[in-house]
Amino acid sequence: MDRSIYCGLVRSSHIDTEITLTGWVDRRRDHGGVIFLDLRDREGIVQVVFDSDGGEFFKLADSVRSEYVLKVTGKVRARSETTVNPGMATGEIEVYGIQLEILNTAQTPPFQLDEFVTVGEDVRLKYRYMDLRRTEMQNSLRFRSKITSSIRNYLVDDGFLDIETPIMTRATPEGARDYLIPSRTHPGQFFAMPQSPQLFKQMLMVAGFDRYYQIAKCFRDEDLRADRQPEFTQIDIEASFIEEEDIMSTTETMVTKLFSEHMDVEFAAFPRMTYSEAMQRYGSDKPDLRIPLELVDIKDLLKDIDFKVFAGPANDPDCRVSALKVPGGATISRKQIDDYTKFVSIYGAKGLAWIKVNALEDGIEGLQSPIIKFLGEEATLAIMQRLDVANGDIVFFGADKSSVVSEALGALRCKVGEDLDLFTCEWAPMWVIDFPMFETTDSGALTPLHHPFTAPSCSIEELKADPANALSRAYDMVLNGVELGGGSIRIHDQNMQSVVFDVLGIGAEEQREKFGFLLDALKFGAPPHGGVAFGLDRLIMLMVGADSIRDVMAFPKTQSAACLLTDAPSHVDATQLRDLNIRLRKKED
Ligand code: AMO
Ligand code: AMP
Repeated sequence: MDRSIYCGLVRSSHIDTEITLTGWVDRRRDHGGVIFLDLRDREGIVQVVFDSDGGEFFKLADSVRSEYVLKVTGKVRARSETTVNPGMATGEIEVYGIQLEILNTAQTPPFQLDEFVTVGEDVRLKYRYMDLRRTEMQNSLRFRSKITSSIRNYLVDDGFLDIETPIMTRATPEGARDYLIPSRTHPGQFFAMPQSPQLFKQMLMVAGFDRYYQIAKCFRDEDLRADRQPEFTQIDIEASFIEEEDIMSTTETMVTKLFSEHMDVEFAAFPRMTYSEAMQRYGSDKPDLRIPLELVDIKDLLKDIDFKVFAGPANDPDCRVSALKVPGGATISRKQIDDYTKFVSIYGAKGLAWIKVNALEDGIEGLQSPIIKFLGEEATLAIMQRLDVANGDIVFFGADKSSVVSEALGALRCKVGEDLDLFTCEWAPMWVIDFPMFETTDSGALTPLHHPFTAPSCSIEELKADPANALSRAYDMVLNGVELGGGSIRIHDQNMQSVVFDVLGIGAEEQREKFGFLLDALKFGAPPHGGVAFGLDRLIMLMVGADSIRDVMAFPKTQSAACLLTDAPSHVDATQLRDLNIRLRKKED
């Protein structure tokens, strides 16, 4: 190794010493007779100066361009007072160049590696190795590495064993589509890539490993969003002979320590809220508690009015009629309300009724709204009273299927909170508990709210009698409205597991075929166990303040699940397909 120190680490304490640096030319400036090279490596940037006394090296310095790779030997010296740059870690010094070697040249970069890149993300992803040279990306990936290593230390100190589980496996149901791998040796058969190590970590508990963790890659073929990638990383944890409390306190301490040690942020004990309260008050099972707005149900006040839009849902047990009061929101313009109406329509809302409170002292006259004439004075005033409105407020309404109202007003709550900057604090971690075991699909079937290995909080008999209302022993950690992690106490009793499969409409034969190994394992002395998994990418995204998990992953995929850098997925040779016994169907138009 020729380098004696990283560029970004040179300080005043090195003045008068000779050092050797390696790095990339961030910028080259020619001040007539003096050439300044900003040399960059993973730790930062330092200014190197060559003047005409440098002879051949001065000429060489004159020939370098942005992103050339250099080796520079020079002497550290103090900058003159007027040229000190307090905004730069190396701003008090510069390196007076003595020797220069060009290790490699570089073409003109496809985009400027400025802090605020303006190129499209597709260009950044195609030239990801260039994009990753930017300070911002270097910082997030370095930070990510530190967090991963803290997590490992924390879990190892707490007695967790790091055990790897297979990537080539059988489908693990976590609710997404599987990525499949065709088998050459078993024609017509496929491996699935794991949506999570769920069943393997349970097997490890049956095997007696007692406390397991893994920083595990998971694969899910699902619709992608800012916080979802087809390939992502979980901090996966499982333990035996434990209760909800053990997993929750271990991981709450872990996250609290990470924030304290790496962010200087101190968390108090995380508040806990039941799923039903979260849905009721925030319309979401991952409420952003930084925003002080809440949904208020007003169904009972609207049962007898003539206005069908509200009276219909008010009299339907599957529906919800709720109001969202925004203090000070009367200044929101008509145009903005139209935009919000469009916004809630994404969630299926058919409209967005509203009332502005201009002068409460004038009674109904002091309210402004297109719907008061339909609601009538009595209902309107009763609503205003329940919401305890004040002058300057606006109230939004949703009336529809419960899920539509919750989703639409829940999302509107966050949007308005952001737009009006209503945040009351910077960080709001919490636990959501007491989830239902199942949710009902449009076709009326039950599907697991988490996964089918989650233990119910009731007995087999109670579960059979009323599965739709059974609660589970699951818990989710939520931070600032993002689901950071989720887990549960698992079913360790083979009969209970079978009953849950029954409830899900998985018949005996299918149970045997897909989950026979699990049902068998549960018969051979499975200990009571449970665990949790956190989205590592999401955690880092929140910690560094990125908008998307793509910004904290070295090589993420695009919205359409492609890798622009390597151009994957790609076509393969006909021979390769033949080996795999695969014949492609003609592309349908
Ligand atoms: P779950 O499906 O809730 O639980 O996943 C756990 C956490 O993983 C993160 N996550 C994702 N991050 C990025 N892209 C994705 N596509 C993605 N999907 C999920 C989320 C989520 O909270 N086996 C169970 C855990 C358990 O029960 O122990 C599981 O996988 O932050
Ligand atoms: P309409 O009678 O459809 O013109 O609706 C009157 C007002 O009620 C408009 O402001 C609509 O945006 C609003 N609205 C319509 N349907 C709903 C709904 N399901 N929930 C909330 N507001 C609605």
